[in-house]
Amino acid sequence: MHSEVSTILTIDDETLIRESFRFYLEDCGYQVLEAENGRIGIEMIEKFRPDLVLVDLRMPEVDGLEVLQHVHKHFPELPIIVISGTGYIGDAVEAMNRGAWSYLLKPISDFNSLRYAVEHALEKARLIEENRSYREHLEEKVQQRTQALEHTNQLLRDTRMQIVLRLGKASEYRDKETGRHVIRVSCYTKILADRFGFDLQETDNMALGSALHDVGKIGISDSILLKPGKLSDEEWKKMKEHCLLGRELLQPLTRDDVAGLTGENDGTLEGIFSDSHLMQVARTIAYSHHEQWNGKGYPEGLKGEEIPIEARIVAAVDIYDAIGSKRPYKDAYPEEKCLQIMRESAGNFLDPQVVDTFFNSLDLIQQIKEKWAD
Ligand SMILES: [Fe+2]
Ligand SMILES: [Fe+2]
Repeated sequence: MHSEVSTILTIDDETLIRESFRFYLEDCGYQVLEAENGRIGIEMIEKFRPDLVLVDLRMPEVDGLEVLQHVHKHFPELPIIVISGTGYIGDAVEAMNRGAWSYLLKPISDFNSLRYAVEHALEKARLIEENRSYREHLEEKVQQRTQALEHTNQLLRDTRMQIVLRLGKASEYRDKETGRHVIRVSCYTKILADRFGFDLQETDNMALGSALHDVGKIGISDSILLKPGKLSDEEWKKMKEHCLLGRELLQPLTRDDVAGLTGENDGTLEGIFSDSHLMQVARTIAYSHHEQWNGKGYPEGLKGEEIPIEARIVAAVDIYDAIGSKRPYKDAYPEEKCLQIMRESAGNFLDPQVVDTFFNSLDLIQQIKEKWAD
């Protein structure tokens, strides 16, 4: 950025002309530098970075065209005005072609035309500069905003994931399981959903949603959930209700749910009543993860492909993880036995295609089992 007073460099081999320009321009309020030929002129441009250059065409050593060329190449935004005494039209054309901003004839009979050309060129240069800095500033701003937005989005995704996993963990605590069951089920689900060809977003939704498969157990009483012995028919019926409770818990929020919260009436909470795809997937899994391929499951007794695929996947990995884990009332089955049960369940209570996919992904699944062991 230049100071308020613009500096003008005048390059001319005639001392009298340089002086007349200087007197006039200084009277106009400019600071004026002088160079007596093109070579010195170029040096002074490099050194003093004037705001505008007036240059004669015909000069010894380095002439005005060379100065033009140099400025055009190295300082494309520096206004340069050619003032020539030849009056030859070819010179004017050549000067304009080499980047002169304007062309005046010597001798200058009306100094107002010089003043006008100088003011006009300086104003144009200022606009170009302003425009460029505005554009740069704008780009920078857009970049900053985009980054901030990405950061916020990531935070929201992380927070959403944390909340879902913690809720899932809470349901497992109620059942005297460790929170790791939920993590393992979630990872296994992700592997299988991916193998089934679901896209990244759907795979993520299934993985996260599967963490909530038993969230309905939060609503089952301790006397049933923690009962050491066998459940009576009545108790078993209650226990099965965890699927329904889970679905209910994951329903979209109603006005009652948020009554009294800040923003209840000013519209800022509108968005939270909508049903997210993640919640739809989680609800389906919570409701249908005890359905069986052979139709003998609950709560609906759905059969085969009537059971939503996300529930068929979670049913398989939930069982695999349950039989391979130690619980208060039972030991963990060894891996071989678990795999045998999985094999025998294909087409029986598990979807054979899901079991196939499970065995095709066994390496990855066993890595998770080891990494997240209780
Ligand atoms: Fe369950
Ligand atoms: Fe489970």
